[in-house]
Amino acid sequence: MKFSYYMPTTVIFGCGEFDNAAGRISKIGQRALIVTGKKAMQALGYTEKLQKGLCSQGVQTALFANVSAEPHTSEVNDCVDQFKDWNPDVIVALGGGSAIDAAKGIALGFSTNESVEDYLVGNKAVSEVDVTIPLVAISTTAGTGAELNWAAILTDSAAGIKTSFRHKGFFPQIAIIDPMLTISLSNAVTMETGFDAFAHAVETAVSKATNPMVKMHSLEAIGLIRDNLPQVIQDGHNLPARTAMHYASMLMGASLANSSTCLPHRLQYPIGIKTGSSHGAGLISLFKPWLEHTYEFSSQTFNELFSVLAGRNCQRKAEVLAAFDRFTDQIGANYTLRTFGLSEKNVPELVSKVSGSLANDPAGLVPGVVQALYNGAIYR
Ligand SMILES: [Fe+2]
Repeated sequence: MKFSYYMPTTVIFGCGEFDNAAGRISKIGQRALIVTGKKAMQALGYTEKLQKGLCSQGVQTALFANVSAEPHTSEVNDCVDQFKDWNPDVIVALGGGSAIDAAKGIALGFSTNESVEDYLVGNKAVSEVDVTIPLVAISTTAGTGAELNWAAILTDSAAGIKTSFRHKGFFPQIAIIDPMLTISLSNAVTMETGFDAFAHAVETAVSKATNPMVKMHSLEAIGLIRDNLPQVIQDGHNLPARTAMHYASMLMGASLANSSTCLPHRLQYPIGIKTGSSHGAGLISLFKPWLEHTYEFSSQTFNELFSVLAGRNCQRKAEVLAAFDRFTDQIGANYTLRTFGLSEKNVPELVSKVSGSLANDPAGLVPGVVQALYNGAIYR
């Protein structure tokens, strides 16, 4: 056995930890730029609470509350332009994966004084940049794992590309994970982000880049998601179940940093750009066709993972697919490409927009697999 595992982020996990965030941030910087979405955090009063807390710690704050659900490179560039002269010494992301990923791009922008597009698409080598400004991630959804991951997923809408890039400086210095912040999530967001965490568990374990620690965490996360996702969908105020989901999601963030996702994640990006559907929703449409095409390339790992999901031994493809159907029926995850208004005629365009490496997927290099998965995602 031979592998490496890296996780430099300090995890602060627990109900009520949001109340201690300002004190922790004050030990990192004195000029905090808060990066968040356009509405939810303000409507819930979380942004104001954080600003007041920082003020009482003697930390100056500035607010950039203009991150879309699919963060755009233009938003990242605007933020850097707007606050370059203010000169923040810490960036605090408050929100789900969108705010956290945007904050990573913003940290890069402050470090380079250049727009991020060239780094995102690889025209300039991001690895040669020294990202000097520290990040704090306050995660308010249970799914993306962005708080422990060193990847940022951004959309360059001018080029019609959504893709990810990685930098060790994108690891937050601290991740504050307070399950109480997830209580207010809607049913749809809870289900779709919860499915994202499930997808991370399966994909990071099946990926060619996996390792024994990643697999161990996947098995743990799938058990937690099986037991708790249906509960939080039924009752969003179930705090023990919310806590278990936030924990599972956080574990998968560490796995994303130490393995890779597979075809569903590569293929979701073009669907999200074209239709505005959420990351989790697109994954739901792709996941069963992916299981059908990929099972035979990694049957033992799929059997192990889906035995946990089923709560009984799965040894055959039909049993794995049946366990998946039971799970998705239970949580109401039944989207297809038709749900997003897409049909066979859109498949060539989707195929042409797939970016990033497919090589870590066990079936990623099979000729025609991308087209086959999109075609399979039209119906279920
Ligand atoms: Fe994801």
